[in-house]
Amino acid sequence: MRLKNKVALITGAALGQGRAACLTFAREGAKIVAVDIDADNGEKTVEMVRDQGGEAIFCPCDVALERQVAQAVAEGVEAFNKIDILYNNAGVLWRDRDFEVTRTVEENWDRVMAINLKGPVWVCKYGIPELIKAGGGSIINIASISALLGFTTAQDAYTCSKGALISLTRSLAIVYAKHGIRANAIHPGPVETPMQKDWDDETKRQIADWVPLGRIGRAEDIANCALFLASDDASFITGQEITVDGGIMVKGA
Ligand SMILES: NC(=O)c1ccc[n+]([C@@H]2O[C@H](COP(=O)([O-])OP(=O)(O)OC[C@H]3O[C@@H](n4cnc5c(N)ncnc54)[C@H](O)[C@@H]3O)[C@@H](O)[C@H]2O)c1
Repeated sequence: MRLKNKVALITGAALGQGRAACLTFAREGAKIVAVDIDADNGEKTVEMVRDQGGEAIFCPCDVALERQVAQAVAEGVEAFNKIDILYNNAGVLWRDRDFEVTRTVEENWDRVMAINLKGPVWVCKYGIPELIKAGGGSIINIASISALLGFTTAQDAYTCSKGALISLTRSLAIVYAKHGIRANAIHPGPVETPMQKDWDDETKRQIADWVPLGRIGRAEDIANCALFLASDDASFITGQEITVDGGIMVKGA
């Protein structure tokens, strides 16, 4: 019960890593404010948390929209009286619309940035005052190894949004440290979730071969790292990035 008496607001909670985080955090005692644009699957996540004996509410919300994020934070506080953990996980990777800069379309660039970068900003804008009231807390930002590496097939809006999230994480860590708030980022490697539904068996085999530990990541691999960062076990860790990628980033020739 590493998160006993804690309240966690988790974005992108309807599917993939966000759903895994809701289930993992709830098992460790946290009450969950599940935030997502996908109401059907978001409600399903809440049902799954309740089925395992946990407490959760669902807040329908497009994280790109400041007003909706403000509302979600308010609903979370109304339900559970406080918020201790902000988990910025919602993100989009659009392989069919997000390309290298020479093929970038402004509308797509702006929408990716709005979800992947502005979303965490709004969550922090409205969530941090609640963390301060709660006497401190933990912010976890899900970035990506895409922000650390160049890929021959680029999704540059995605990559840049995640790169900026690293800078935001460091800034948050310093500005709010005096309030006992920690901010850290996780860089997942390839993780099998609905985001990667295009992967066929051959692609999965190639990815597993690329990963030194010989397998594709699971949503729980990321949730477990986030659990550590959210818990008091990480009480002296802030402004850091943890790469959860099976060894890709340190692989040599
Ligand atoms: N899966 C991977 O290989 C991988 C690798 C590196 C980083 N990541 C990052 O991990 C995070 C989680 O990804 P995932 O793999 O679970 O993806 P996913 O597509 O399975 O889930 C993303 C969730 O975000 C929600 N979402 C999308 N737009 C939203 C919006 N505007 N407002 C609110 N919610 C919105 C979706 O409805 C969905 O529930 C993302 O930030 C992603 O960029 C994923």
